[in-house]
Amino acid sequence: MRVLVVGGGGFLGRTLVQAAAARGCEVYATYHSAPPRQVGPVRWLPAELRDPDEMTAVVRKTGCDVVVNAAHGKADWAVTAQGAVHVAAAALAAQAHLVHVSSDAVFSGTEVSYGEECWPDPVTVYGAAKAAAETGVRAVMPSAAVVRTSLLVGDGPLGPAGMGAHERLVHDLASGARSGRLFSDDVRCPVHVADLAGALLELAEGRLGGMFHCAGADAVSRLEFGQLVAARDGLDASRLIGDERRVSGPPGPLEVRLVGQQTRRVLRTRLRGAREFLAVE
Ligand SMILES: NC(=O)c1ccc[n+]([C@@H]2O[C@H](COP(=O)([O-])OP(=O)(O)OC[C@H]3O[C@@H](n4cnc5c(N)ncnc54)[C@H](OP(=O)(O)O)[C@@H]3O)[C@@H](O)[C@H]2O)c1
Repeated sequence: MRVLVVGGGGFLGRTLVQAAAARGCEVYATYHSAPPRQVGPVRWLPAELRDPDEMTAVVRKTGCDVVVNAAHGKADWAVTAQGAVHVAAAALAAQAHLVHVSSDAVFSGTEVSYGEECWPDPVTVYGAAKAAAETGVRAVMPSAAVVRTSLLVGDGPLGPAGMGAHERLVHDLASGARSGRLFSDDVRCPVHVADLAGALLELAEGRLGGMFHCAGADAVSRLEFGQLVAARDGLDASRLIGDERRVSGPPGPLEVRLVGQQTRRVLRTRLRGAREFLAVE
């Protein structure tokens, strides 16, 4: 399989690039700011999601069978929403399959548990942009796989997957480099970035389409997540201060649990829960 990872220099993108190469894929990847210092058999191409013509040219140039879009521009609508549609249009023009990565941020938390059939009801700009991207991608390419996921977690500072932003925050709070609190009523289903990459590549290989929920098996609060990371990485957990988001804010979804019943029926890749992959060995 020849795969193009859009956003190959990001946290998920880097893991995807490595996992695809390890599976014997021919791997192309895009960067936006600067070409990553990445060893391995990967061909890097510059790409700007805001530019539909450039996206079309990049996808066509690679001759890829599958595009995995792991890029986003946070609350920047032109990148996160419109850019995702540009990627879908480019994949369609090149007759490539598309796996688009979305987020649990498309949900408000009012219902707590969300299955694949649930419609977005975002309450943040980022969530709205991710929801718009889902709608646009599915309109342009109904056969695409749209994959909602949750907090991405790696292996810690010395592990092969490195650390994501959520682990980095825990390290900074525990060392005193940053001040802040971890909410005990803000609940998500963190997923290991390598498990997610495996699931995305399985969807790519099978050219599967539709809505998928690929989150970890355990729903944990930000505070419990911080304590688990602290235990794994030998940090001083007593420096992690808990609080309640419903009291101290900022406004946003409290409890969002992605339920992946339909996804589990088709995926072989196991998505471990945070209590399992963060357990101290
Ligand atoms: N991180 C999480 O906890 C989490 C949770 C739920 C869902 N997700 C979703 O998972 C996916 C991967 O997230 P991540 O945390 O791995 O992302 P990330 O580390 O922030 O990486 C974002 C990527 O997007 C690229 N990018 C940004 N602006 C661009 C532009 N204008 N044109 C082209 N590329 C651009 C960046 O390229 P450069 O680095 O070259 O600038 C980078 O490779 C995203 O769809 C995100 O919404 C993430």
